Amino acid sequence: MSKLEAFHPSRNTDSAFYILERSQKTYLVKHYKKNAEERYSREKRMLKYWKESGYHVPLFYDDFELELSQPYLVMQFLSGKTLAEIFSDETVSYDYKLKLIEKLFISCSKRHTQALQNLDRELIHRDMNLDNIILYEDKLYYIDFEHESKVKVFKKQLAKEISTLCRRILNLIGPEYTEETMTLLVKSYTHQLKILHLVVKFSYGRISRIFHMLGARENKKHNLVTKYEIVMVLKKLLKEHKSS
Ligand SMILES: Nc1ncnc2c1ncn2[C@@H]1O[C@H](COP(=O)(O)OP(=O)(O)O)[C@@H](O)[C@H]1O
Ligand SMILES: [Mg+2]
Repeated sequence: MSKLEAFHPSRNTDSAFYILERSQKTYLVKHYKKNAEERYSREKRMLKYWKESGYHVPLFYDDFELELSQPYLVMQFLSGKTLAEIFSDETVSYDYKLKLIEKLFISCSKRHTQALQNLDRELIHRDMNLDNIILYEDKLYYIDFEHESKVKVFKKQLAKEISTLCRRILNLIGPEYTEETMTLLVKSYTHQLKILHLVVKFSYGRISRIFHMLGARENKKHNLVTKYEIVMVLKKLLKEHKSS
């Protein structure tokens, strides 16, 4: 039996994590706690699906017997850094951060185009935050598929992933990069601008607008970028793009 070493991710988590060394390989064990069976089977199903669809995700292994209560998932340990770690590191240059953001948007635009073509919800990440993307061997790997989406409308779910991602990026690298970041987004989705129009449509509806403005006031106190501000810039850029 191999020894499990506790692993503590920087972010709060509902699961317990362990590092496992076996035959000179390192694995990460995710041990589910709340709604464990449901989370475990969803995570496994999604990892398999994303891999088959051509996206980078950690490999997982079914044949490990551990001294842990079921269910647990044994995965390839990606010894890279999360984008959250990289973006919040002040010693990393903005040029490099912006290059990574562009790489990320290009990877997302490919996936979202595929998702929209097939109305495929499974290709939308339900918990798009920067702790769930790992840069490993120069490739962006996606992790954390245990959640179900609360949004039932496909296009709204797609729009939400993009606006959440932009908000999380800007809240780490700083609001002064809003224009630059959103320009990269438009550039990466040039051939699929209808996806970005969905972001505007679903984030900036007449009724939701008032809530965003109220929310914006609350977020402003903490100097956070709001969905409302992001969509204002996106709307302007899309308009400029149209007339150019
Ligand atoms: N396969 C992996 N390789 C390396 N680190 C990982 C891997 N999976 C998860 N992590 C680390 O553990 C953290 C939490 O994992 P995650 O699956 O996102 O669980 P949670 O649902 O608790 O957010 C991640 O943010 C990352 O830092
Ligand atoms: Mg996570």
